[in-house]
Amino acid sequence: MRGEHKGPVGNIWRHLPWVGAIGCILAVLTLQSALPARHAGFGAPTSSQPLALSADGELLAVANTDTDSVSFFDTSRGTPRFIDEVPVGREPSGVALAPDGGEAYVTNTVDGTVTVLKLTGNRKKVRVHKVIQVGTEPYGVAVTPNGDNVYVTNARSNSVSVINARNNHVVDTIEGVGIEPRGLAITNSGDDEDEIVYVTQFLSLPVPGKVDGADDAKAGYVTRISTKTNTVIDQIALAPIADTGFKAAGDALARIAPGANFVFTTGAYPNQLNNIAIKGGFAYVPNTGASPNGPVRFNVNTQSLLNVIDRAAGADANRTINMHQAVASQTNTARRFITQPWAMAFKHASNEGYVVSAASNIVVKVAVDPDTGAAAVLIDPLDPTRVLQIATGSNPRGIVVNENDTRAYVLNAVSRDVTVIDLTGSRESVIATVQSAPLPLPGTPEDKIHIGKELYNTSIGVFDPATPGGAPIVGRMSAAGWGACASCHPNGLSDNVVWIFAAGPRRTVPQHTDFDQTDPARQTQRALNWSAIFDEEEDFELNIRGVSGGQGLIVLADGVTQDPDVLAFLPRANGGRNQLKVRGVGAWDALKAFVQFGIRAPLSPAHSDDPAVIAGRQVFASAGCASCHGGPQWTRSRIEYTPPPAAAQIVNAQLIDQLRKVGTFDPAAFNEVRATAAPPLGGDGFSPASLLSISAFPQTFLHNGAVNSLDSVLDNVTHRSAGTGGADTLSSPADRENLVRFLLSIDAHTVPFP
Ligand code: HEC
Ligand code: HEC
Repeated sequence: MRGEHKGPVGNIWRHLPWVGAIGCILAVLTLQSALPARHAGFGAPTSSQPLALSADGELLAVANTDTDSVSFFDTSRGTPRFIDEVPVGREPSGVALAPDGGEAYVTNTVDGTVTVLKLTGNRKKVRVHKVIQVGTEPYGVAVTPNGDNVYVTNARSNSVSVINARNNHVVDTIEGVGIEPRGLAITNSGDDEDEIVYVTQFLSLPVPGKVDGADDAKAGYVTRISTKTNTVIDQIALAPIADTGFKAAGDALARIAPGANFVFTTGAYPNQLNNIAIKGGFAYVPNTGASPNGPVRFNVNTQSLLNVIDRAAGADANRTINMHQAVASQTNTARRFITQPWAMAFKHASNEGYVVSAASNIVVKVAVDPDTGAAAVLIDPLDPTRVLQIATGSNPRGIVVNENDTRAYVLNAVSRDVTVIDLTGSRESVIATVQSAPLPLPGTPEDKIHIGKELYNTSIGVFDPATPGGAPIVGRMSAAGWGACASCHPNGLSDNVVWIFAAGPRRTVPQHTDFDQTDPARQTQRALNWSAIFDEEEDFELNIRGVSGGQGLIVLADGVTQDPDVLAFLPRANGGRNQLKVRGVGAWDALKAFVQFGIRAPLSPAHSDDPAVIAGRQVFASAGCASCHGGPQWTRSRIEYTPPPAAAQIVNAQLIDQLRKVGTFDPAAFNEVRATAAPPLGGDGFSPASLLSISAFPQTFLHNGAVNSLDSVLDNVTHRSAGTGGADTLSSPADRENLVRFLLSIDAHTVPFP
């Protein structure tokens, strides 16, 4: 079989017979005895994760993103023992360990640095050895299997930094790796000189000729880099799937209104490619599939995809599975869907692996076929009526499996702990949970934000009992754990998908601009949604109920029954109503606090002192862009009343004063349709988009994704002249180019226009 594989990837196969389990173990033994300590790799490929194990499985490092620290545990015994928590830079997203556990490499996403920590004294002492400057928003970090080099994805500068692990210098910065590089996986042929580095690009990108809103409008990308040359080999496109296995009641793009029967096949494109894991001749990418064509009720909006790359062919293996299907077809009707599959790890000596569902607080098990790459979700051996689910803490985001396949460790981002799973029994079982970082003190403002973060990221949610001592209320956020706010707003931002929603085609609005983040109290708020149809966070109660199929959070006086009196559109105030509580805090109050204080605006890699940026800022001013895109939220939109609005404000269910017509609405366009297949809103104009951190949301612009570059946004003469009373001041290509450079530079550090 190996002989069939040709080309560079095929050659790697010949070095190590790593598909066969026994071969793999033998290879481990030879490698470990033949090489000095630093080369104590265990024969497996590596991958980026927010937690890491040393090759001997006896040291665990955990990145505490919320507390700017890394915790270390001694895992040489049954239960991990805490060693130390060490402060690092701001927002550590990833950590990797040298195979011998002598150094830890931490990506500090906000600082743009990698902290190198040294472990000494039999790994009992940790100190900061060095802080290395890399690109903007470093995220993933992985050490080559033998420990020679460290690869870091710079998510905003679209590059990969290579650090020499011997002297901790950046030896290469690889450009052109695609847009928003995130996850890394590195092959292991036994020699770090000739490995292949796989890099996921987080957001999928438009397929030429397609229109977003269609289920096949975009493709995911994985970039391959050669460690020999530190250059990009290629970018592998991951195709949409034609059939998710779930049927819709209508087909908005075909102008078929939802009916009584669920007969319309839905497809989905891969999106939110966070993590990647290599097994034998294949690489696996868990991701959130987008099925944006309406109607988008819960089981036909986001999907739980596992894409498979054929490494020898350097191509999509066309073996994508929708992991949700396994849950749908289980006979046990108490279902929990595998929402936001965020990370995965394989066992070393078998073809089984584990996928982490960030929103549903579970790990599920998959088996893969080493010959074909085919993957399947496994059933619980002790309960054949259901998919095997291993319960984790809150918001699991990373997983590692130790060398001899006896333990898996799962990092839970919200509960800030690690779930320890025993893999040796007839069924996996959780044997311990260890705290990795302290939680906010109950009753503090930080705790309220933290509760909001939990609710935002969960598809299930656990609430206080309605009566003291009663059963906790579960499962209000979505039907069967299908959806979370974070499913479409990862980290509070945007999946960049154009969903065919109730009002029309609507690209997910990132939430870092809902409130003016330069105001310490976060009181100033913009009108919500492209058509300014909402004015309060709480108005999204109907999103929970309608789009995600949950029971929602606004309840009657009994504390549990859904309050039916929540209106779709503006005239009722939804803030401050009777809500479910979490640790005594109102669920919506907490969600709002998270949106106000817990979502970070992405950073731009551009420098404000770049002459093109300075010139572009001048053009922005003289073209009057600031009249609609001014202020610290980079949009003129403001809510200047206490909800509800005066009746006269509402025209066609929109806050009419918020809207501006800039020639971007074409009712005849293919995707200009509501989820109901009726004509969309848009004739009255749109709420000016915020331009804050626009560089983080590439290739899909305007409410309907009609244009794929910032430059083409400016093709529209009506729009570009709207700030100068119709005089077109933007005909010079140089001005336009500079203006685009300025737009790409706008982040929280940019001085706003008044
Ligand atoms: C299926 C994808 C999806 C899910 C799930 C989702 N959203 Fe959204 N969100 C969107 C889209 C699309 C828009 C733009 C809608 C529009 O303009 O009509 C949006 C817009 C918003 C906005 C308006 C932001 C602004 O500044 O205009 C808020 C607030 C919001 N969502 C909150 C939430 C909350 C809270 C949840 C969870 C309860 C949630 N969303 C779940 C897709 C989603
Ligand atoms: C009269 C108000 C107005 C003026 C002036 C204006 N815009 Fe806009 N802008 C809008 C509106 C409204 C939208 C949203 C339109 C849509 O999505 O259909 C928008 C959208 C955009 C977007 C797309 C943002 C995204 O996330 O998709 C960009 C970029 C943009 N404007 C840049 C500019 C620039 C640059 C100027 C100055 C040359 C400018 N605008 C002047 C109202 C305005």
